[in-house]
Amino acid sequence: MTATVSQQLLDWYDVHARDLPWRARPGAPAPDPYRVWLSEVMLQQTTVAAVKPYFEAFTRRWPTVEALAAAPEDDVMAAWAGLGYYSPPRNLGKCARAVTELGAFPESEAELLKLPGLGAYTAAAVAAIAFGQRAVVVDANAERVVARLFAIDEPLPAARKAIRAAANTITPMLRAGDFAQAIMDLGSQVCTARAPKCLLCPLSDDCKARAAGDPARLPIKAPKKAKPVRQGRAYWIEREGKVWLVKREGKGMLGGMRALPDDGWSARADGSGEAPLPGQWQSAGLVRHTFTHFALELSVHMQREQSAPEGEGEWWPVAEIENAGLPTLFAKAARLLLSA
Ligand code: ADE
Ligand code: SF4
Repeated sequence: MTATVSQQLLDWYDVHARDLPWRARPGAPAPDPYRVWLSEVMLQQTTVAAVKPYFEAFTRRWPTVEALAAAPEDDVMAAWAGLGYYSPPRNLGKCARAVTELGAFPESEAELLKLPGLGAYTAAAVAAIAFGQRAVVVDANAERVVARLFAIDEPLPAARKAIRAAANTITPMLRAGDFAQAIMDLGSQVCTARAPKCLLCPLSDDCKARAAGDPARLPIKAPKKAKPVRQGRAYWIEREGKVWLVKREGKGMLGGMRALPDDGWSARADGSGEAPLPGQWQSAGLVRHTFTHFALELSVHMQREQSAPEGEGEWWPVAEIENAGLPTLFAKAARLLLSA
């Protein structure tokens, strides 16, 4: 079925491709590798709809990889806030500087993989989409389509190996970038998680899961472990209309981002519960936030016009708090406090 599956999918893509700001039209010359790379990194964090405004803002502010390489990390960090909580901003800068030194993005998957902070998925995606190289690009949408097409009923994540191998058998030599994006679009528009629209699917004649009658059961997922729930505290210290913000430790959760001081909670342990300052603290309530490996219950405590914090930090005007680039967790805490 090799030739027919890829051809049918490309024919479908020619008509149904989504029009996205980082894309070329089907069959058109490849888009700027910088835009492909940036979009793929962003798309690993969140949905297409959520990425669009960030992508537009980034490319307006930093239209080239050289511009991004020269940008202060704090600016990139603040522009990234809300998009995801791993630390791509730092990797983004490192990678952009490495590309700038090379003079251009390398074109092969193997060379792309050598760039700092650029992982296997991104290397395959950029090689295929920006340079038309044959590469096997499997995101969560493609994973679902391939698991169904080949009726792979091993549970995820163990099934990833078999899914990759199967995807390799249908990846064409030509139009590899269009093919990669065609599978993604099919997965998000037609072969959807709960109710695949098999009647509209260009691959329905070849699809083993459809033949078996219940495609929505695939891919099978190994039962999830319950996430641990951690407790922590955050502190709102306000004086003369300004709030004390700190910068988080480089390597840890939300590393390098501006934040409210806290009691040192982490993915592995609750916070100490110790306040950073003496004085009277007033409780402002609780925010909940779910990270990949744990959930956090963060209680927010505040004091006004009392003792002054020492150490590294800055007084930020409360009226400008929206512009501080706080990650979502601390933005929620600020909102809670300001609405109280
Ligand atoms: N998800 C990840 N990469 C994508 C792309 N290039 N187009 C649509 N969805 C995607
Ligand atoms: Fe998905 Fe149905 Fe198409 Fe199979 S036929 S790939 S299950 S939409």
